[in-house]
Amino acid sequence: MKPKTVAVASDHAGIVLKAALAEDLKGLGYTVLDLGPATADPVDYPDFGHALAQSVTAGDAEIGVAVCGTGIGISITLNRHRGVRAALCHDSLSARLSRQHNNANVLALGERLIGIETARDALRTFLETPFDGGRHEARVDKIDRGAS
Ligand code: RB5
Repeated sequence: MKPKTVAVASDHAGIVLKAALAEDLKGLGYTVLDLGPATADPVDYPDFGHALAQSVTAGDAEIGVAVCGTGIGISITLNRHRGVRAALCHDSLSARLSRQHNNANVLALGERLIGIETARDALRTFLETPFDGGRHEARVDKIDRGAS
């Protein structure tokens, strides 16, 4: 079943891609919770990564899309939160496998590294691909079980 609400967040280096993907999401019928930033003034990606993680763990959004320059800083931040599985993806294949094997609930992208059409393709794949479950279920469960 299609998630209803997708939270999106970025830093200043991801704001253009975030806006483009938010428009795509709306066009696909999702409700978009835009956690900012609203302008391209320099900000710190952890502030927006933590806000996005909290919206997912609180249940305000079923999934998230996070963008910074590389996708690295914001995905590291997101993965500090128990229950958040942020996957830094570079194409449709990594997006598909992050859903099938890792049950990723946040798609992280690097605006400075990925072309817009590749990013849009990765997002569509991420939204459409279900978790495979099966042998992957116990592995995903162990992620949070071993966390401090
Ligand atoms: C901002 O300059 C840049 O460091 C940030 O967007 C991101 O790439 C960090 O991982």
